[in-house]
Amino acid sequence: MFDTLSALPADPILGLLNQYRQDTNPNKVDLGVGVYKDPVGHTPILDCVKIAEKFRLENEQTKVYIGPTGSADFNTLITQLSFGESHSAILSNRIRTVSTPGGTGALRVAADFIMRCKKDAVIWVSDPTWANHTGLFEAAGVEVKTYPYYDHANKSLKFDEMVQCLSQVGPDDFVLLHACCHNPSGMDLTTEQWDTIVELTKDQGFTPLIDMAYQGFGTGVDNDAYGVRKMADAVDNMILCSSCSKNFGLYRDRIGSCSIISKYSNQADITFSVLLYVVRCIYSMPPAHGAAIVETILGSAELKQQWLDELKVMRDRINGNREILVSTLANSGVDRDFNFISTQKGMFSFLGINKDQVNRLKAEFSIYMVDSSRISIAGISNENVGYLATSIAKVL
Ligand code: LMR
Repeated sequence: MFDTLSALPADPILGLLNQYRQDTNPNKVDLGVGVYKDPVGHTPILDCVKIAEKFRLENEQTKVYIGPTGSADFNTLITQLSFGESHSAILSNRIRTVSTPGGTGALRVAADFIMRCKKDAVIWVSDPTWANHTGLFEAAGVEVKTYPYYDHANKSLKFDEMVQCLSQVGPDDFVLLHACCHNPSGMDLTTEQWDTIVELTKDQGFTPLIDMAYQGFGTGVDNDAYGVRKMADAVDNMILCSSCSKNFGLYRDRIGSCSIISKYSNQADITFSVLLYVVRCIYSMPPAHGAAIVETILGSAELKQQWLDELKVMRDRINGNREILVSTLANSGVDRDFNFISTQKGMFSFLGINKDQVNRLKAEFSIYMVDSSRISIAGISNENVGYLATSIAKVL
C-alpha cells in the first residue's frame, strides 16, 4: 500500500530548523522559524511561567481527562485577554471558546467548523500569508483564494487593492485577517484601515476569521487586539484563533484557543455543540499543561503584571533589533534602502532579496531564512548583526 507514496518536500519553515541544527559553522545565524531569542540566541522560559509551573506542580491533584473544551478557567481568561473584559460580545454571552493544541490546532478546529457550516466553503487569505495557512485549510477541504496584501516592490501595503478585492467577496465566504504582526510581512493594518475593513465586512456580509498569533509583540496586548475587538463589536459571526506560543513562550506546550462568536447567545450554544463535535473528531481533548500555566498567570494580578513586563522586554528587544539591523546595513556600505524594516511590526520582515541570494547566504555564510527572504527578527543579536550585514552586502 505504501508503495503509492512519493516523498514530500520538507516544510518551508520547519525544514530550516534541521538544516540549521546540523550546520557546524560557529558563525551560523538562524533567522528561520519564528521563535523569540534573547541576546545570546537562547529561547528562555519566562520567569512568570516558571513560577506558575512550580505552583501547578505543588497543587495539581489529578491528570484525569479534561474534556474537549479544555480548561474552563483558561477559556474565560484568554477570551478576556483577546476581546477585553467588558467587550459587548462577552457581556451578551455570544462567545464560545475552546482550548486548542497551539494556534495551528485552533486553525484546524476553525477549518473543520467552517466545513460544518458550508460544504463548499471558500476562505480568502492575504497574499502572502503564513506558509501553513493554505495547506491547513486545504487539508480540511476548504478552498483557499487570495486577496492582495503586500507590495514587495514598494515595501508597502496594497490596501486599495485589498479593499477592491474584498468588495467582491460575499456572505458565503470566509476571510482570514491577521490581528497584528502580519506573518510573513510585518506589515499591519493601521487602526483607520481596520475601521475600513470592519465596515467592508459588515457591508459584504462575509465571515471574518482573525488569526492572532502574536498578541503583545506589536505595540502591546490591547493595541494589538484593536482589529479583533472592533470587528467583534460590529459583526454577528466571527472566528478568532489565538496562540500562546510566542507571547507566553509556550511553544512546545501547544496551547492556543478558538473562539466563535454567534449572533445570539442561544445560537452560540448550538455552534458550541458543533465545535465540541469537531474537536472530538480531531484530537478528542487538548493538552492541559500549557492552559494551566496561562490561567495561573492571568488569574493572578501579580503574575499577570510580571508577564506583561516580560512580554515588553521581548517586544522591545525585537523592535530594537529592527533598528540595529537597518543601521548596521547602512554602515556596511549597503546603498539599498532597508528603512522599511524598522517601520514594520512583530517577528518578521521580508529582506526583499531573491531566492538565489537567500541560497547563497545559506550555502556560503550559514545564514538561514525562509526562501521568500522572510527573516525572523528575534534571531538578530549584537554579536551576529555585523556578520549578517556584511554577508548581505556581499550577496546584493
Ligand atoms: C513561523 O511562522 O515561523 C511560526 O509560526 C512557526 C511555525 O509553526 O511556522
